[in-house]
Parts: sequence; C-alpha cells; structure tokens
Amino acid sequence: QFCDAGVGYPESTCGFSSSSSSSSSKLLIKGGTVLNAHQQEVADVYVEDGIIVAVKPNIKVDEDVTLLDATGKYVMPGGIDPHTHLAMEFMGTETIDDFFSGQAAALAGGTTMHIDFVIPVNGSLVAGFEAYKKKAKKSCMNYGFHMAITKWDESVSREMEIMVKEKGINSFKFFMAYKGSLMISDELLLQGLERCKSLGALAMVHAENGDAVFEGQKRMIDLGITGPEGHALSRPPVLEGEATARAIRLAKFVNTPLYVVHVMSIDAMEEIARARKSGQKVIGEPVVSGLVLNDSGLWDPDFVTAAKYVMSPPIRESGHDKALQAALSTGVLQLVGTDHCTFNSTQKAFGIDDFRKIPNGVNGIEERMHLVWDTMVESGQISVTDFVRITSTECARIFNIYPRKGAILVGSDADIIIFNPNSSFEISASMHHSRTDTNVYDGRKGKGKVEVTIVGGRVVWQDDELKVVPGSGKYIEMPPFSYLFNGIDKADAKYLSSLQAPVKRYFTAS
Ligand code: URP
Ligand code: ZN
Ligand code: ZN
Ligand code: ZN
Repeated sequence: QFCDAGVGYPESTCGFSSSSSSSSSKLLIKGGTVLNAHQQEVADVYVEDGIIVAVKPNIKVDEDVTLLDATGKYVMPGGIDPHTHLAMEFMGTETIDDFFSGQAAALAGGTTMHIDFVIPVNGSLVAGFEAYKKKAKKSCMNYGFHMAITKWDESVSREMEIMVKEKGINSFKFFMAYKGSLMISDELLLQGLERCKSLGALAMVHAENGDAVFEGQKRMIDLGITGPEGHALSRPPVLEGEATARAIRLAKFVNTPLYVVHVMSIDAMEEIARARKSGQKVIGEPVVSGLVLNDSGLWDPDFVTAAKYVMSPPIRESGHDKALQAALSTGVLQLVGTDHCTFNSTQKAFGIDDFRKIPNGVNGIEERMHLVWDTMVESGQISVTDFVRITSTECARIFNIYPRKGAILVGSDADIIIFNPNSSFEISASMHHSRTDTNVYDGRKGKGKVEVTIVGGRVVWQDDELKVVPGSGKYIEMPPFSYLFNGIDKADAKYLSSLQAPVKRYFTAS
C-alpha cells in the first residue's frame, strides 16, 4: 500500500525509497521456472546493468550480487499493457492517474511497460508529443506512445512521418466514435490507412459507429433514460460490429494491417475472426473489463457504483465475456490490454443527470495480470506460456520491440516478474495503488500473486511494497515495419499483375 506521495515526490514517506539494498546492478534469480511464450524451463536468470546476461541452471556468482529465490515460482517477462490513458484530458476533465501513479499501480501488478495514447494538441502531432513527453517526465517504468489522429491535412500527414522517423512512434489510432470531439470520417480513415501503410506504421481503430451512437443517445434521453444504464443501451454491440467490419474492409482495400482496440462484443470479435480466416492481417485486443465483467453493474441503483463501469465501447451483457475469453484462448484475439482510464467518483458525477457526461473509462493497469491469470490459466483455458504471450510477448512483437521486451532471453531488458501460482490476490479500492477512489474489480479474489517486479534490473515491488522513483522511467522507441508488414509489398505486386489481364491497354503501352 502506498499513498499519494507521487505529488511533489517526497521520498520514504510511505514505502517509497530511492535507494535500497535490492537496487544492486547485479541480480540473480535462482531456481524458478522461467516462462517464455515459446517454452518453459527450470533455470536461473542472471542480470547485469539492466540486461539479462545468462539464463541457465546453476549459475554461480560473486557475493556482491543480489539474490532472489524463485523456487516453486514462475519467472516471466513483465507485463506490457498495449492500451492505457494516463494524464489524459478527456470529456472536460483529466484522468486521475498520471504517469507516476498509474505506473506505480502497474508495477505493483506486474506490468513493466505500457503504451499510452498521445492526443494531438489542436490537431498538431508534434505539439501533442511534446506535451506527453512533459507529462511522462515523472515516469518510473518503461513506456511508449501511440498517436491519435483527430483531423487531416498536409501538416498532419507530414507530422506522421516525423513521429515514425524521429520520435519512435509506430502506431496511429483513429476514433470512429466520440462525435464532435475525437471522431474521424471514413475519408480521413482511408487517408490515414494509406499514410500508415507507406510509413510501416500500424493503424488502430476505436470501432463504434459514432453517428449512430449519437442517435442512440438521443433516443435514450427522449425516453427519459438518463442513468448509467443508458450508456450501454445507447451504443449496442451492433454498432461496434458495424464499425469493426467497416474498418476491416477499408484496411483490406488499402492492404495494410489493422489493430482493433478494446474488442468488447461477440459482434466485433466475429468480424475479426472472419477477416483473419480469410488471411487478412487484423489484430484484436480484448481488454480485461470486457473479459471478466458484465453489464450488471451499470444497473446498480447507486449512481457512484453504476457510473464507475461506464466505458466505451460499453461492458456488454453476460455471454460476451465468455465468448471473448474463448476467442483469446484460440488465437482469434491475440493480446490483452486494459484501456486504463481512471476518473474518481467526483469526476464521474459530472454525469449524475445525464449519462452522456459521465467521463468514460475504467481502471485495470494494476489488475490485468492477476485477473487474466485467474480467468484464463486457472480455468484451464490457456497454458502458462500462452499467458506470457498474451500479456507481454505478442505486444512486443506487434509493436516491434521483441525480443528486447517480452522475453527472458540473453540480451533482453531485465523487466521480470516473479509470480507465485500458489499464493492468492485480492483486489480492493482501499488497497490498490491507483489514485482513483473506486475499482471496478473491487472484492475480487483469485489464485496467483505477483511477488516481485523488476524493471530495468531494479527490484521495484517486493513484500507488497513499492520502491519507485519518479523520473526513473524510460521511453521506449518503437521502429516501424513490424512483422505484420511482411508480404504487403508482394500482395500489392500480385494485385497489380491481376489488373494486367483485364485492363491490358494501360500496361502494354509504348
Ligand atoms: O471509455 C474509454 N474507453 N475511455 C478511454 C478512451 C478510449 O476510447 O479508449
Ligand atoms: Zn502511505
Ligand atoms: Zn477507444
Ligand atoms: Zn482507450
């Protein structure tokens, strides 16, 4: 447990300290079962200066090395959360977790890297990037950025290139919802997809039909439904399915890979399944809330309780959760994010008389690893190595930072957790490390516990205590042209040659 000492950064006031015996630059993790996405083995892991330098049984070391006993426990890559919003200005307010409190929560839950969404400033990507760089100065773990595209002109197109070639951003998100603020048109989406393709950057979509959501909201208000349940009723799964299908087809037309964020419904998942089956490169990201919750909380008569579940796309009725789990276990969906985007009860109360004004977003950055383990591994739906793949490795591959991240291999960064499968976790709003005063997983218990978190070779979470230093975080640049782009040029060439027979006259001139 730690309190809000991140503000002003006092040290050692509540479990923080900048120096500790375990911050030695040499570390030996002994006797654990090392988990990678591709294999598991009993081995020691030796770390020097933040890098894994040996993974093998019975490593002998000198006395100046910090020892961690992992006998009977799993040693695996720290989680990578592909989808967070820290210090984000949204719906007239700002998320309560910033780059320090959100990351401290992440580390307590075994996540050592996250990728946050930069929102442009007045449409400028460069200004947005600079603003987020400033916000992230207080970071205490690894972080990278996606960039949202909210308008289109020559300058945005130019700035996309700057982001990719100079700033380490290799993904751009397009919001098909939030009419009047972040929403983009199909025309913009098409231009954005083309530009992403030429830069080797991954296009991401928030897939809901924003025009129809707007109509759905009016419909609810006209019926006098103003409470949090109106949020879910106004934007049903069919609108998520429609936008997912549309984005997938436009990406196919452009022939570029697509990443669908926060897949919340069977409708959207089935569109992704169909596209993947046809060979299209589409990645589907469920988030923890969609995997483990259902919409019942939105009907709670207590506004504070119901409002905490408001996020977009909405948490669906029971059945979608299980279907998303099954899709994750069979590879239809590939990795798990959180969409951590926290607002406290006071902020959520902006919408006390009108659900349209409730800031959208739920917590999850601290809970993701435990809940995915309990829901997917303990239930027998996936293996322990699959767990590593969907919480860490696949994210590193998609965003082109594997095997530096997402693996316990010689040469990888020492972002490691020690996980005790025989211990247990319990979630509560009073004990969590986020600054928000509610928790959508409040009261949940389960098997497994992140006992130690190591980031860049430093032990930052041990014995239920955080040892984090604001400013110690590291920005991770992500290069373009991930594996998802393999073969795109060949498919384009094939398409062109397929045109040569039917429209011969253009190809045989001169
Ligand atoms: O409700 C949500 N998801 N808030 C964060 C913004 C977004 O759409 O990802
Ligand atoms: Zn304290
Ligand atoms: Zn979204
Ligand atoms: Zn989001």
